[in-house]
Amino acid sequence: MKATIFYFTMSGNTELAAKEVAEATGAPLVRLFADPPYTIDDIDWTHPYARCTREHKDHSLMPRVKPFDVDIAPLDTVFIGFPIWWHEEPAIIRAFLTTYHDLLKGKNIYPFCSSYSSPVSEADASLTKDFPDLNWKVGLRLPGSQTAIKKWMER
Ligand SMILES: Cc1cc2nc3c(=O)[nH]c(=O)nc-3n(C[C@H](O)[C@H](O)[C@H](O)COP(=O)(O)O)c2cc1C
Repeated sequence: MKATIFYFTMSGNTELAAKEVAEATGAPLVRLFADPPYTIDDIDWTHPYARCTREHKDHSLMPRVKPFDVDIAPLDTVFIGFPIWWHEEPAIIRAFLTTYHDLLKGKNIYPFCSSYSSPVSEADASLTKDFPDLNWKVGLRLPGSQTAIKKWMER
């Protein structure tokens, strides 16, 4: 398996999750950043006009993904980690999937999330709806055990 773990985090929970996946797989980690970066005001989900709220309501609104120094082409497996925002993936994940769509086609894509309480199935539904031609595996909500992560990868 030639894999890389891409992840986005604001407050560090998804980074811990990504490190769990790295421990189980040995795959390298690549942190995704929005350009311009999200501020604390941008992620105030109680505000109807906050950036996160606008991007949730209109999926055509996406940030740019700050370029990273990794070649996606030779990978066969891509892990994508994110916090659940508004019961789905944040817009930067949609931006990543849109920007690198052609390169991601045909690869096994494993989404994982951290969240306060929402299950990953809500993001699974949103991702497969927006990107139906990508090869989605069922997602995993972390933290979890190394055994659970290894089982997940066998699906
Ligand atoms: C804008 C925003 C929306 C969120 N929406 C949800 C949600 O719908 N369901 C949930 O369980 N948690 C929600 N959360 C909580 C985050 O998913 C949770 O704190 C996550 O672990 C943060 O990950 P991070 O530390 O990697 O940024 C939301 C957080 C933010 C900032």
